[in-house]
Amino acid sequence: MNRNFGDTIKALRAQHGLTQEQLAGRLNVSAPAVSKWERGESFPDVTLMPALAAELGVSTDKLFGIDQTSASIHYNKVYDSEDYYWGVEPSTMCYDVLRYLPPTRPLKLLDIGCGEGKDAVFFARCGYIVSAFDLSEAGIEKARSLAEKARVTVNTFTANLLHYRLTENYDILYSSGVFAYIKPDLRAEIMANYKSHVNDGGLAAFQTFVNKPFIPRAPEKTPIYAWKSGELFTYFHDWYIENCCEYVFDCNSSGVPHKHAANRMFARNIKEID
Ligand SMILES: C[S@@+](CC[C@H](N)C(=O)[O-])C[C@H]1O[C@@H](n2cnc3c(N)ncnc32)[C@H](O)[C@@H]1O
Repeated sequence: MNRNFGDTIKALRAQHGLTQEQLAGRLNVSAPAVSKWERGESFPDVTLMPALAAELGVSTDKLFGIDQTSASIHYNKVYDSEDYYWGVEPSTMCYDVLRYLPPTRPLKLLDIGCGEGKDAVFFARCGYIVSAFDLSEAGIEKARSLAEKARVTVNTFTANLLHYRLTENYDILYSSGVFAYIKPDLRAEIMANYKSHVNDGGLAAFQTFVNKPFIPRAPEKTPIYAWKSGELFTYFHDWYIENCCEYVFDCNSSGVPHKHAANRMFARNIKEID
């Protein structure tokens, strides 16, 4: 039985607007066979996998749920330890979120690229209804155990932000240190998806690394695509910018002291002003 594999086939088939009969026809198998795969009751023959992946428009790795990008390999390795690589104290950005949109009513917050969960767990402790995802399974495991220790609920899941699109709304979207993994050509689409899934009056609290000619490239083990200074704000030009700033900070990731320049933005989705 493999329920996840079946779910993947079902979701991709739906994305392509194919019925079970149509997919079956293209692969020369019966519709009940496709139905059994999707229910996790049987597997397609291995010789069918390349054709199945091609019909569903993905690689066979993706079909099997393998997403071995260099970032996931890197972070699974660095998070594979008892210690918390980024510590367990929340980022100072979290306190700004508390100030701009305090949890005086049930507010849904999503932490995008939550790492080992220090910020997501802090938000849950403050009373937000928190979901959090990351590419790294090891990071998500640690976020779960941090939440357990703090006796709070965080709805954690693994997902790749390059493929994962929001389908439900949140009051707060939060992300710190992650967007530099988004190549420039994907940014407009991803930011548009995020903007369209923030409730009225809600907040986007985002931080990303930016390029500055006077700051040497960080010795990262994974390719990052630092943003242009100010670029993040432009995607939110029609929102109320509570605050946006640029700053330089010291970092010791990879064991080599270096500096990063970053932009931080708190933008609010306001349709009308009273
Ligand atoms: C610098 S760490 C920041 C982690 C966390 N936000 C924090 O501040 O502690 C970058 C995180 O981005 C995640 N990441 C990188 N590429 C990603 C992707 N495509 N989808 C989701 N998460 C990704 C990494 O796994 C890592 O946990």
